Amino acid sequence: MNSTLEQEINGLGPWFHNLHLPDGTQTAPKHYFGDFPAFKWREIASHIPSNLSGWSALDIGCNAGFYSFELARRGAQVTGIDLDPHYLAQARWVAERMELAGRVCFEQVQVYDLARRAERFDLVLFMGVFYHLRYPLLGLDIIAQKVNRLLVFQTLTLPGREIAETPDVALNTNEGMNHRAPLTAPGWPKMAFIEHTFSGDPTNWWIANHAAVEAMLRSSGLRVIGYPGDEIYLCEPDPEHPSCVTTWNRAEYLAATRIR
Ligand SMILES: C[S@@+](CC[C@H](N)C(=O)[O-])C[C@H]1O[C@@H](n2cnc3c(N)ncnc32)[C@H](O)[C@@H]1O
Repeated sequence: MNSTLEQEINGLGPWFHNLHLPDGTQTAPKHYFGDFPAFKWREIASHIPSNLSGWSALDIGCNAGFYSFELARRGAQVTGIDLDPHYLAQARWVAERMELAGRVCFEQVQVYDLARRAERFDLVLFMGVFYHLRYPLLGLDIIAQKVNRLLVFQTLTLPGREIAETPDVALNTNEGMNHRAPLTAPGWPKMAFIEHTFSGDPTNWWIANHAAVEAMLRSSGLRVIGYPGDEIYLCEPDPEHPSCVTTWNRAEYLAATRIR
């Protein structure tokens, strides 16, 4: 590595994404996860069309842009958003080095800001962000409405893959609303709330179980069509089961997003 490049990389650090620059230099070669997120990309790469010419893509919580660059290389026009200017500076710097600046743009935008933007995207990546949201279902409702074709969703999940039936267990029972035991079954959708920190990070708020991830994706109007890897869900819009935020519960959504 030439020393100027090394100084620039160090000056932009710390890095969460290990990007491989054209000359072979890596931005975080000693990453605690290994070659991250290249090994995650290998899990999802074959589940996304290899030719994305004509596709628009949104990379939510893009960090230093690893996934944005992979999608741009496949021909997509990519918007990467992140709330953190530190990571956006890394992403913009790498875009120049990779000569992909014409295919990717990086913006300081919060998940919730997307509610007030009109664009939709053919492909949306929402990886590693859901558990960082204090208002996760609002975030997912907003994002689901931005997806034209595919969503790649990844989040931290609780151990276990059980899925319980979830009828109205309180209806037509003698106990009525006191009949709550079925809600404690392992496969009932649940999220663990993190009041303080998880792994030392105060921005980790909620860890859902597998059943809750699937239920929330469905409830937001999406259909799970594949599992590219651990804790990764490939989804598409489900026009037969639209989200209630587009129908009877629209008023709550509009109030929560301050659209009206
Ligand atoms: C764990 S990293 C995941 C990065 C990348 N998506 C990946 O999977 O490797 C979470 C990223 O999401 C960003 N982020 C967290 N909350 C956000 C929010 N509300 N809106 C936009 N970005 C957010 C963080 O700044 C960080 O870059």
